[in-house]
Amino acid sequence: MKYYPKLQQVYNFDNFEKQGKELVAQLNAHLKNTQKPKTNANHWLKPDEELNYWQNYQFDNLTTFVDDLLQHSIHLHNPKYMGHQVSVPAPLSVLTNLISGMLNNGMAVYEMGQAATAIERVVVELFCQMIGYDDEANGVMTSGGTLANLTALLAARQSLKEQDVWQNGMNDKLAVLVSDQAHYSIDRAARVMGLGNVGVVLVPTQDDFSMDIDALKKSYQDTSDAGYKVIAIVGSACSTATGIYDDLTAIGDFCQSKDIWFHIDGAHGGAAVFSSQYKSLLKGIEMADSVIIDTHKMMMTPALSTVVLFKDKKTGNQTFHQKAQYLFEDNSIEEQWYNGGLRTFECTKFMMCLKFYVLWKTYGIEIFEENIDCLYGLGNTFAEMIIQHKDFELALHPQTNIVCFRYIREGLNEQQLNELNKTIRQKLLEDSEFYIVQTILNGSHYLRVTLMNPMTTEAHLHNLLRKISLFA
Ligand SMILES: Cc1ncc(COP(=O)(O)O)c(C=O)c1O
Repeated sequence: MKYYPKLQQVYNFDNFEKQGKELVAQLNAHLKNTQKPKTNANHWLKPDEELNYWQNYQFDNLTTFVDDLLQHSIHLHNPKYMGHQVSVPAPLSVLTNLISGMLNNGMAVYEMGQAATAIERVVVELFCQMIGYDDEANGVMTSGGTLANLTALLAARQSLKEQDVWQNGMNDKLAVLVSDQAHYSIDRAARVMGLGNVGVVLVPTQDDFSMDIDALKKSYQDTSDAGYKVIAIVGSACSTATGIYDDLTAIGDFCQSKDIWFHIDGAHGGAAVFSSQYKSLLKGIEMADSVIIDTHKMMMTPALSTVVLFKDKKTGNQTFHQKAQYLFEDNSIEEQWYNGGLRTFECTKFMMCLKFYVLWKTYGIEIFEENIDCLYGLGNTFAEMIIQHKDFELALHPQTNIVCFRYIREGLNEQQLNELNKTIRQKLLEDSEFYIVQTILNGSHYLRVTLMNPMTTEAHLHNLLRKISLFA
């Protein structure tokens, strides 16, 4: 047999142990470093500069590469990271990712992921229970909120009594109703499903950016009168830009009265079902036909990891009723709970349940409550600081860890304020000590933080305001 020296090297387990120890030590040093007061959360380079760097990069070895990569990456563990809604991964969860990487069990069929399939079931059952679903409920895990929203809306479409779109294609005009503050993944899912521009009806929001229920009723009537069949109404829990929860009970009641599928996008805020203090924000969640929750947002796991939950498991079973003869025994999907590929978009799937499961079992379920309470509480603290500060203005009082605010100065008109805040945010990005983002609300430019990091303190928030004032 021919000898392949490189392959021998690649699979050598002594190398793995040595490289692994070095890598963990290096990442641990990085973690410690992120907590030092003088460190930056970000490292800003323009896209072309970054590309140029990597195009000309001389790879020497793993250690120097990781050093360089760390230097060129954004650091979510730095308490001055306050940007997008991506979790600050618990180190234990990072290590668990390593197990999935090593085992690489594909999970499409039971044989290719026995333990992970069963563990995923245990995780999904926990979420169903937390929501208040009964034994008829179940679900799956999938790669991110975007795919999860698509999966749920496909189930909604497949639950139509009048037509089997999966089998026969679409012969009716279909529509989804969602608030104008919803995450763009809903719009994208509807378009992927062939609903087009007119099939995504944006329901206006109230002054507090939650869905206006009277407007929902009117939108439904107008859409039906125009000859569209509404396949689902989507509630945001919470919406992305402002972190405001829709009135889920009111939407649920309306859906029930019209026999329409009720979907809740809880990618960010669904995790609040784990918190006694905040779960009232999700009142009515158990009425939903489907709910999605990302664990890589408010539940401390690395990306990607999302649960898609169905109130009636049969609806989730019907979504992809296509046969792949070489994979599945027969078509009795109902009985084959263990063949995950029958219910997910993915064929090969990462063993994503492990990172949540290990955190849960190691620290107890209370860890998720603590994280929500800490971060939502921090949002409130920051809002209070802004209210006290004469140079800043809140866009609205936050319900979560997402806070929208802006710098104000007497004598400046709206356009000048917009320009000023846009410039401030650009300066912050280039300065790189803090990482925050921005959003437009009712035509005005706001700075936006999502307080994802439990290590962020009031002192960091004060320093952020001080720096913004300086730049202003
Ligand atoms: C409300 C909401 N839904 C869906 C998504 C998309 O989730 P993912 O990034 O996991 O695809 C996001 C992302 O921020 C979100 O905020």
